[in-house]
Amino acid sequence: MKKIKINLKEFLETILPHPKLFEILTLAQNISKKRKEFLYFAGGVVRDYLLKKIYKKKVSKAKDIDLVLQGDLKSFLKEILKELKGEILFESQFLTYKVKINLNEKDFLIDFITARREIYEDISKLPIVFPSNFRDDILRRDFTINALIIGLSPPYEGILIDLVDGINDLERGLIKPLHLNSFIDDPTRIFRGIRYKVRFGFNFSEEFFLALKRCFEKEALKRLSGTRLANELKLYLNKEPEKNLKTLLITTLELKIFENSGIKTDKNILNSLVSLLKDLKEELTEREREKFFLLGLVNPEFVDGFYRLGFLESEIKELMKYVELIKKALPNWEILSLWEKIKIFEKIPPTYLLVLSLHFPSTKKEVIKFLKDYRKVRPELTGEELKELGIKEGKEIGKILELLRKEKIEGKIRNREDEKNLVIRFLLNKSET
Ligand code: CTP
Repeated sequence: MKKIKINLKEFLETILPHPKLFEILTLAQNISKKRKEFLYFAGGVVRDYLLKKIYKKKVSKAKDIDLVLQGDLKSFLKEILKELKGEILFESQFLTYKVKINLNEKDFLIDFITARREIYEDISKLPIVFPSNFRDDILRRDFTINALIIGLSPPYEGILIDLVDGINDLERGLIKPLHLNSFIDDPTRIFRGIRYKVRFGFNFSEEFFLALKRCFEKEALKRLSGTRLANELKLYLNKEPEKNLKTLLITTLELKIFENSGIKTDKNILNSLVSLLKDLKEELTEREREKFFLLGLVNPEFVDGFYRLGFLESEIKELMKYVELIKKALPNWEILSLWEKIKIFEKIPPTYLLVLSLHFPSTKKEVIKFLKDYRKVRPELTGEELKELGIKEGKEIGKILELLRKEKIEGKIRNREDEKNLVIRFLLNKSET
């Protein structure tokens, strides 16, 4: 066991996102000392602190702080909450607690974790956990670089503990699992490893590939639940810098992770997906973006992939209905007018429309233009103004609005005057017939 003395004050100053957190941590530290229960930091905060030291990298302050207690966490938290305003927001089956603490009118969220041992009873299933000591808690983790801890209280106050040669791997820039069955136990670690590799510009160790091979042999990725698989992929989109998305997806493809997870896709689809996501960022809500991302990963010729990612039968059927709609229109695509194409696009929700444009590239340019532009085109004249010009309420208004939109999109009318003239022509035509 490697033990290194560190400057706790400097460590805290480096990692804590807010100076007020000092107060909370000092209290937690004092309570753990009084109770003689070992309190320590683990995971991302320790890794990022060392990254900063080793590579002089600008690592952002901790977003979530994982504080681990070797002891009775529930009663420990009760003591903290006697002293500070706050509440336990969530208690998980893994002996972890999300706690909200309010200090001088500001809320802080802290994850408290019981030092624990994990037992994986079945491939790719969530583990059963038991309270245990810091050693077991270190050894249950995913990668050596995430298995370093820094003590806040005795017996290791201000000590960095390295049981797994994690510092060395940080220095060498290596993503190394703690053991070769790691990905059989929990295949989500593969996606985590890819995120760390790309985020830090590291390399996979030989053990990473060996563990991956074992995982494939046991078909562990195929047994991972759809929800967990989709959640890991969503982290590519939501947790990592946008500029890394392409590399994350291509790395996943090249390591045959999609294939072994039951998802058929290819480089063209992924490249096109990334560029569409970037291009249409402003046009989609967060939910639409996430849904498009997941649906867009899958080649629709192999529908199983959609089921694999946990989509509902009804959603898949709906998408396939639109696939058929586009396929039917495609042979005549070049001779359809812009307006006819828009009428097809309007039948399809934006998320699905984008998915289609990925797989039917001849529609892509117009789909983008439709989502960015055409679908927002509205006449300048209001309903009231139309009525004043002599348009009747009801069906007729709908008809003229549609006509105005069409002519505007086609560039035949440009301003209010043009619109008014069109309305007058419309009314004249009507009276003639
Ligand atoms: N962990 C693990 N196996 C998992 C998930 C998490 O061993 N499948 C452990 C790792 O030690 C990890 C810690 O739990 O460091 C906390 O997990 P998480 O908050 O997801 O990641 P961070 O390490 O904080 O990294 P990130 O910067 O991505 O948030």
